[in-house]
Amino acid sequence: MNRAIGVLISGRGSNLQAIIDATRDGRLDARIAVVISNRADAYGLERARQAGVETLVRDHKAHAGREAYEALLVEDLRARGVELVCLAGFMRLLGATFVGAFPNRILNIHPALLPAFPGLHAQRQAVEHGVKISGATVHFVDTSLDAGPIVLQAAVPVLDADTEDTLGARILEQEHRIYPEAIRRILDGGWRIEGRRVVFDTPA
Ligand code: GRF
Repeated sequence: MNRAIGVLISGRGSNLQAIIDATRDGRLDARIAVVISNRADAYGLERARQAGVETLVRDHKAHAGREAYEALLVEDLRARGVELVCLAGFMRLLGATFVGAFPNRILNIHPALLPAFPGLHAQRQAVEHGVKISGATVHFVDTSLDAGPIVLQAAVPVLDADTEDTLGARILEQEHRIYPEAIRRILDGGWRIEGRRVVFDTPA
């Protein structure tokens, strides 16, 4: 269990909790070395503390520009030997300083079947657009918004009676299932990126 991951959050941290749970029950053979939040009031920090995981608050507003802020995050993560960074509801766009420090080593979870509905309020976008199927996507992070190579996806039917919240709740269940699984598969190796495609040597 020496594979160290770092988790970046901004809010309630339910995906963080799913990752914590997976490391505890043996589904994910990894150690969360640190949880970093850009907001001091993120409930996910409490979840991390309860799990005995180190927490850091790094307020982006306290830094003179994005590069300085990202350099600090990189330093925090490298100092703890983090080999894979997992964004879990982290509400900041990351630029070249951060992404370049962890090439193909940053994952994000998004509540839609990308490339449909990137950006904020993906669940609302899906309901308003009238798609019949939406879902969740784990993808690598590059400097584009929600557009890096896709690792895993799960489909969720959109029901006629769905609201942003009811659809979001069902998508969240799938997020909690596929995020730990995607982290495990990436840490285990046996994959490569061909163009935009993440290709695994063995099927799931
Ligand atoms: C999730 O819906 C995730 O897909 C999106 O932000 C939300 C974070 O929720 N990127 P939580 O903080 O993990 O509960």
